[in-house]
Amino acid sequence: MDKVVGSSVRRLDGPLKVTGQARYAAEFRPDHLAHAVIVQSTIAHGRVDAIDLAEAAKSPGVIEIIWRRNAPKLRYPKLGAYDSPSAENITSLWDSAIHYAGQAVAVVVAETFEQAQHAASLVKVSYHQEPHNIAMAEAEPAAILPKQSNGEKLQYKRGDFSAALTESGLIKIEQAYSIPVETHNPLEPGATVAQWDGDELTLHDSTRWVDGTQSTLSEVFGISRDNVHVVCPFVGGAFGSKAFRWSHTILAALAARMTRRPVKLVLTRAQMFTWLGHRPQTTQHLTLAAGPDGRLTGVRHETRQATSTTNEFTVPSGVVSKMLYECRNVQTPHKLLPLNIATPTYMRAPAEAPGSFALECAMDELAARLKMDPVELRLLNYAYIDPEAGKIWSGKHLRDCYVIGREKFGWQARSPKPGSMKDGSLLVGWGMATATYPGHRKTAAASIRLLSDGTALVQAATHEIGNGAYTVFTQTAADALDLPMERVKFELGDSDFPTAPPAGGSVSTASVSEAIIKAVGAVQLKMARLATTDSKSPLSGLRTADVRCGEGRIFLPGNLTQSVTYKEILDSAGEPWMEAEATAEEQDDTTKTVTIQSFGAHFCEVKIDPSLPEVRVTRFVSVLDVGRVLNPQTSRSQALGGVTMGIGMALHEQTIYDPVTGRPVNDNLADYAIPVNADIGGIEVFFTNLPDQSINTLGCRGVGEVPIVGAAAAVANAVYHATGRRVRDLPITPDKLL
Ligand code: MOS
Repeated sequence: MDKVVGSSVRRLDGPLKVTGQARYAAEFRPDHLAHAVIVQSTIAHGRVDAIDLAEAAKSPGVIEIIWRRNAPKLRYPKLGAYDSPSAENITSLWDSAIHYAGQAVAVVVAETFEQAQHAASLVKVSYHQEPHNIAMAEAEPAAILPKQSNGEKLQYKRGDFSAALTESGLIKIEQAYSIPVETHNPLEPGATVAQWDGDELTLHDSTRWVDGTQSTLSEVFGISRDNVHVVCPFVGGAFGSKAFRWSHTILAALAARMTRRPVKLVLTRAQMFTWLGHRPQTTQHLTLAAGPDGRLTGVRHETRQATSTTNEFTVPSGVVSKMLYECRNVQTPHKLLPLNIATPTYMRAPAEAPGSFALECAMDELAARLKMDPVELRLLNYAYIDPEAGKIWSGKHLRDCYVIGREKFGWQARSPKPGSMKDGSLLVGWGMATATYPGHRKTAAASIRLLSDGTALVQAATHEIGNGAYTVFTQTAADALDLPMERVKFELGDSDFPTAPPAGGSVSTASVSEAIIKAVGAVQLKMARLATTDSKSPLSGLRTADVRCGEGRIFLPGNLTQSVTYKEILDSAGEPWMEAEATAEEQDDTTKTVTIQSFGAHFCEVKIDPSLPEVRVTRFVSVLDVGRVLNPQTSRSQALGGVTMGIGMALHEQTIYDPVTGRPVNDNLADYAIPVNADIGGIEVFFTNLPDQSINTLGCRGVGEVPIVGAAAAVANAVYHATGRRVRDLPITPDKLL
C-alpha cells in the first residue's frame, strides 16, 4: 500500500467547512434552548455594593438573573498545577471584589438572545470604586519575582555576566524592547451550549482541551468526570485561548442548572478582549556583549511582564536567550507586575514570540554595530550543543535553514547600508531573524476499532483547531494500519474518547500520532492472536509473532496462500470488530539525553513610502526545521498563519486600555488591527523535513508555534534596514517612523 504520511493530502474537513456543515459549539441547538448574556463590571477595581434587578426582571422573556445572592456556591477550587495560573483564578460572580473592568457580575438568561441582551442592559450595578492601576511602571511596589514557569527556570544565571562586561574591547548593545497587550481573536468566539440531564452535564464548548474542560466542570460542580461530557468537533481558532478554566463555560453550565433549560452562552467580540486571556504586555531589557570578532561573551535578558492582580501568570521570554546562541555568561531575570486587567494567558509561542523579538532585534543591532552580515553573526555564534542543558540536540538543522533561506530569498544581493536599497521612490529593507520552539510530547491515547467490513474507526480526544488534525491523524492511522485513507475514519473532540493533551505547546501531532501507532500495534496483535488461535483459520497453530497484518488481512510473510482477511476471521469468531486502545507516555525533559527543539530562519522584505511611512511586507521566506513533515500542505498553512500573525505582531496588533476606566477601547475587529490579505505579500515556506526519531516513531515535532517566533523581529530588522530607524516598541505604526 502506498504510504500517505508525508504527502499533501487535502484537508478532509475542508468540504464540511466550506459548505457550512462543520458544526461549531454555538450551532448546537437543543430543544427549549435559553440564552445567557453576561453583565460585566464597568469599574476596574473596587467592589460591587448592590445590584438592582427590578427593571431587568420585568423585561420580556427573562427567565432568571443570576448573581452573588442567588447563585449556589460552587467549589471553584484553586487551579491545579498544570493549568495554574494561566486561567481565571477568581470566583467572579460569587465574590463582590472587582479586580478588572469586564469581570462578570451577573448573568441574564432569557428566551432569546436579544431579550437577554436587552435585560442585561437594564441591570443596575452600584460599586464602591477604588483606584486602579493599569500601568506597569506604577506596579513596581507590588512586583513579584517568580521562580519558575511550567518547569522553566526564571531568574536563571550561568557563568558570570558582570565579569564578562569588564573585558576590554567589548562591543555592547543595551536596549529595551516593548510589546503591548495582544489579544487573540479567533473568528469563533468563546461559546458554550450546556445541558443537564439529572446530574449529567453535556457541554458543546469551543475548547482546545476537551479533557481539561471536563475536569474543570467536574471539580466545580462536584460531580464525577464520567458525568461531564464535553464535545467539540471543530474549534474556530484559539491561538492559546480556549483552554484551561474560563468562567463563561462555568456560568453557562450554572445557568442551565438553575433554569433547568439547555443554555447557550456566546461571548461577544468585545468580551473576547477581557475573557479568554491575552498576550501580556512586556518590556525586555537586552544587554549583549561581544568581542570585536562578534562572539557573544555575555547576554542579559531581563523581562518585565504584566499580569493580573489575581494570577501570577508568566511567559518566560528569556528562554530564547538561554539556548539560542553559544554564550558562557547568561542571565534571564524576570519580574511580574500585577495590573487591574483581566488575566493574561498563552498566545502562540507565549514565551518565544516576545523573547525572540527582543533577542533577534538586539542581534541585528549588534551585527550593524560590527558591520557584520546578520546571518554571519548568527552562524558565528551557532550553538552546536544546547548551551543551557549541556545536551546534544536531537536534530538541529538551523544552519541549513539559514543557508537555504539566504539562497531562496536572494540575500546575497543585500546592500548592508540602511536606506541604500530603493524601488523607485520606495525604501526597501531586508531583515532576518531566527525561530525556535521546543519539541514536546505529552501523554496521549488513541483507540482503534477494526471492523469486519474492512474499515477502521480511530478515536482520540484531540482537537481540530485548524491545525489539520483530522487529516494528519487519518494519514497516520491509514499508514500504520496499511489501509487506504478512505477506509479509515478518525474522530476527535470528545471527552469520551481516549485522552489527549490540549491543542497547545505544539504537542498534538507529535503526541497523538505516537498513540495511534501504538494502538494500531495493539489491535494488530489482537488480530494476529485471533487468527492463530481460531481453529478454522488458515493460520491456526502458527506463532503470533510470526504473522503480520497488512492490507486488511493477516498473513504469513513469504507465504501468500496462508492468509486470512479481517472480515473472515472476525466473522468466523462471531465478532463485529476488534478493538484496542494504547497510551503513549509523555517524554520527561529531565531524563532525556538530548534536547528536542525546532528551529527556523525568517527573511523579510519591506517597502516603505518615505512620505507616508506605512510598512508593507512584500516578501517573506521562512525555512523551518520541525522534523518530519507529515503533510506539507497543512504544515505550510500553519506556517503561513504563524508568519502572518508575526507580521501582525510587528505592524498592527495592540490592545489599548483607557487609563481612566481601565477598559479596552479597541475591543472590536475594526479597531484592533490584524493583517488582511492586502497586508501580506508572498510568503514562501520551506521545510528541512528531516525526521527526528528522538521524539516519536514518525520523527515529527510540532509545527504550530515555531513559525511566529522571530517573525516580528525579521520585520523590525527589515524596517531598520529600509529606514535606519530602530523601532523597539511594537507595533511599528507609521507615527513611529515619521
Ligand atoms: Mo501555545 S499558545 O503554548 O498553546
